Amino acid sequence: MRYVRTSGSVAGTCPAASPAGFGLHPDDLPDGLVVADAAGRVTCFNSAAARITGVRAGDAVGRPLESALPLEDLDGRRWWALTDPYGGLATRTGQPERNLLLPGGRQVLVCARYVRERPGGPVTRVVVQLRGTEARRRTERSHAELIATVAHELRSPLTSVKGFTATLLGKWERFTDDQKRLMLETVDADADRVTRLIAELLDISRIDSGRLEVRRQPLDIAAAVHRHVQAHVRAGQSEDRFVIRVAKEPLPALWADPDKIDQVLGNLLENAVRHGEGTVTIEVAPAVMKARAEGTAVTVSDEGPGIPEESMARVFTRFWRGSKRGGTGLGLYIVKGIVEAHGGTITVGRAPRGGAQFRFTLPVSAPAFLTQA
Ligand SMILES: Nc1ncnc2c1ncn2[C@@H]1O[C@H](COP(=O)(O)OP(=O)(O)OP(=O)(O)O)[C@@H](O)[C@H]1O
Ligand SMILES: [Mg+2]
Repeated sequence: MRYVRTSGSVAGTCPAASPAGFGLHPDDLPDGLVVADAAGRVTCFNSAAARITGVRAGDAVGRPLESALPLEDLDGRRWWALTDPYGGLATRTGQPERNLLLPGGRQVLVCARYVRERPGGPVTRVVVQLRGTEARRRTERSHAELIATVAHELRSPLTSVKGFTATLLGKWERFTDDQKRLMLETVDADADRVTRLIAELLDISRIDSGRLEVRRQPLDIAAAVHRHVQAHVRAGQSEDRFVIRVAKEPLPALWADPDKIDQVLGNLLENAVRHGEGTVTIEVAPAVMKARAEGTAVTVSDEGPGIPEESMARVFTRFWRGSKRGGTGLGLYIVKGIVEAHGGTITVGRAPRGGAQFRFTLPVSAPAFLTQA
């Protein structure tokens, strides 16, 4: 029995091999699928394989695998001759995913499985999966861009550190104590900037790879807010600049990672002070979240210029900064990563008096050892 789809010129051709009841046709697969029989002749060449290789399924089926799918490795060696799926050790089960070249030099990700009727027996089928490399190339490009940005961000403080230390070492006696102090203070501040940037980059890599660890503990978030405001006041901000409003109704118990929540509050308050103006209002209140789950909501508002409507979608992206007073533009990306790692959400909007308003919610979640009882 043959099952041939005829939609368009790249229609795949395969015997109906799907398990009864599933109704899955090889052409339904998002990836290219090529199957060869015990003699190495192609029996299935689905439509994604036709699209990726540019070979019509009808032309591929019945031909030897190496001529229907003439793959080469990146050194130009013929892949089928190299891997010899039907020969070699009888314990081999396939080939892991790798980047190979199609005729014309187009790249494709290929992996293969060698199907044997019994362990150690001859290969009865070779099943090959093909995948285009576009998506992977896109992420590689975005990594390359990230590296370029990071290198740039690191270079400017280091250039200043190097410049001042070289000047001081070379002409130490020519400067007054005050001049030397000023230069060393700049070096000190720039070294802090590099250290902070590296800490932020480590956070980002943890967030991006899903490795951000959340160590939950009971957390008094109102006390944490007070602590942060006190730190700003000690650093020279006027006490009148801050208003803290904690809801009268009792807050639900909150289990969260205190260090991480400190990072969130620190970033949001620092932004409100640095990028905003006027009074900074911090409100802590119970929140009703999805499906009646309870949580805590914290809102930080200021009276500055706010975030322009058209930029609101971009404030949480890496390296986005709106004003000249901006830092590295990583703060809010990390804040969002931390809040989401806690199962919460963060949004940005316009404060009642025109400034920026950031609101994040944290669900009431107990630590794993309590919920898994
Ligand atoms: N309260 C605010 N009012 C106005 N603009 C803001 C406010 N908070 C953030 N922004 C804008 O959003 C941008 C991104 O903020 P984010 O915290 O991610 O980076 P940053 O503060 O510039 O640098 P970093 O936090 O990494 O030191 C800022 O550069 C600023 O333009
Ligand atoms: Mg910031």
